[in-house]
Amino acid sequence: MKNIAILLSGRGSNFKAIYNSIETKIINNARISVVISNKGDALGLKFAQEKGLNAFFINPKEFCSAQEYDKKIVKILNDYKIDLVCLAGFMRIITPYFVKSFKNSIMNIHPSLLPSFPGLNAQKQALEYGVRFSGCTVHFVDEKVDHGPIISQAVVPVLPNDTVETLSERILKEEHKIYPEAVKLFVEDKLKIVGRKVIVKKS
Ligand code: GRF
Repeated sequence: MKNIAILLSGRGSNFKAIYNSIETKIINNARISVVISNKGDALGLKFAQEKGLNAFFINPKEFCSAQEYDKKIVKILNDYKIDLVCLAGFMRIITPYFVKSFKNSIMNIHPSLLPSFPGLNAQKQALEYGVRFSGCTVHFVDEKVDHGPIISQAVVPVLPNDTVETLSERILKEEHKIYPEAVKLFVEDKLKIVGRKVIVKKS
């Protein structure tokens, strides 16, 4: 049984997609052991509480530095014997201390085809650049933002009349497919990192 932690800051739709995949047994032998938010009013946190999951709001304002904050998070993750940390709309840059504590065990989803458009407002960046295709990326987290080895990507077209909202919606649908799929591969021990590359082992 693999213990999964979800870190989020808002809506939590990717968290719900992972949660549903576990509930419907698309992902077996895994449970969401803890959900942590850095925002007290995150809808994702509310959903976790409603489902009876261990859910915590850890307020950054109560810590004197990002590292102290991350030490607290890492302590909770260790308490719950976490095997995989899923960043799911967690709007904080995690410190090298955190990354080292969970080496090759932290995943993130980003709403662009990395390495294009890292950072904030990826969908807006893509629209303004004028690309014909964008999408989303699930990757392992390393010390640089939106940078670690890529697990999977999905492509969507950018249409002539797209707004940030319409493009985001199209991308989000794909996020909800590829994030649970990546989690499933991890849980089944099918992912092997070789340098920058992630090899998906055949069963
Ligand atoms: C998603 O677009 C994700 O790619 C990005 O933040 C957003 C989170 O959305 N990292 P949600 O909270 O999962 O609904």
